[in-house]
Amino acid sequence: MILLTGGAGYIGSHVCIALLDAGFDVAVVDNLCNSNKASLERVQSICGRSPVFRHADIRDEAAIYDILQACGVTAVIHLAGLKAVGESNVRPMAYYENNVQGTMRLVSAMKRAGVKTLVFSSSATVYGVPAYLPLDEKHPLGPTNPYGRTKFFIEEMLKDLYKSDDDWRIGILRYFNPAGAHESGFIGEDPLGVPNNLLPLVSQVAAGRREKLLVYGSDYDTPDGTGIRDFIHVVDLASGHLSALCHLAQPGLLTANLGTGNGNSVLEVVRTFEAVSGKAIPYEIGQRREGDVAICYADPTFAKQALGWSSARSLEQMCADHWRWQLRNPDGYRGILLPNVRETVQA
Ligand code: NAD
Ligand code: UD1
Repeated sequence: MILLTGGAGYIGSHVCIALLDAGFDVAVVDNLCNSNKASLERVQSICGRSPVFRHADIRDEAAIYDILQACGVTAVIHLAGLKAVGESNVRPMAYYENNVQGTMRLVSAMKRAGVKTLVFSSSATVYGVPAYLPLDEKHPLGPTNPYGRTKFFIEEMLKDLYKSDDDWRIGILRYFNPAGAHESGFIGEDPLGVPNNLLPLVSQVAAGRREKLLVYGSDYDTPDGTGIRDFIHVVDLASGHLSALCHLAQPGLLTANLGTGNGNSVLEVVRTFEAVSGKAIPYEIGQRREGDVAICYADPTFAKQALGWSSARSLEQMCADHWRWQLRNPDGYRGILLPNVRETVQA
């Protein structure tokens, strides 16, 4: 049995499918602070079986210990956390408490229960401003906001834990920019309020829920002047967790980028989304967003060598799958699942 923390969330629900499809039993722990349990009902429709669900907080060490024992957990994939950069600047202590203290409690419960295999969701944000590109795992770390620093401190903590006891099997996965949705259109990203990230915003403009996209700067030193990122399909990202889990059959600590190695600009994303949706996406060029870098993309070589993992899906597929999710679920998990509208998705 694999314990998946944050398993009702955007990435977690896709990891849950990858695990169930691979034949694992899964227990999800989530406090639902940024998710909806309906995601797991949808997971059941896709996979034909469901994870065990426990509504609990990772900071509740006793509850986590009970779940580890009662479910016979052998490994933990830890995604639970707060993730909004802007909010982390305003409420830094909430981020340290939830993310850092939450991970400390989780690890403490795991130690007591004798479960020593852990895959952790880190982020490319730990690299900060790129000193060179593509970003490989040896690039110096220097996160520029509290959210990024929680990921950095957790990484350091896990490295110290491994140094103190090399029975641990720890995989630190640094995600680049997750995008897209499961191809069924049953599950996807369901941001509460105004989304922070590019794809959900573009998709809401295409759907007519927003008038236009504000492009944060067109004066970067890039071919079209807009920012470049490494967008990775969430289903590819999910499969990276399985590869990491298999790799951790041996004790060790591994840190790997999960990215495609390709960079796409904001305007390339807009044009691709227009092509797959057949909808115009009006945009306006605005000021640069504070804290943004011009270009960020991964060197995915190490993940390929060490885990035998690489991404397979294109930007077209990310946009098409995101659009299908948007069309089928105009109100996210709070609404009903509409029938498939295949002819309106071009990829
Ligand atoms: P998400 O908000 O959809 O999922 C996180 C889940 O964790 C949510 O279901 C939330 O309810 C749960 N959670 C939060 N705090 C909890 C706690 N104390 N106890 C129990 N459950 C708790 O976000 P996501 O995009 O799926 O991200 C998953 C992980 O990946 C996060 O750790 C995030 O920092 C990391 N990450 C995400 C991105 C991204 O762009 N989505 C990029 C890099 C890293
Ligand atoms: C952001 C976070 C990063 C996190 C990542 C994935 C910041 C500073 N960084 O990175 O920590 O790991 O999300 O969750 O928030 N853009 C627009 N208009 C918009 C929204 C975005 O032009 O309305 C542009 C941005 O300037 C950027 C690109 O789109 O060039 C991608 O933005 P976003 O999806 O927010 O991801 P990141 O900035 O890479």
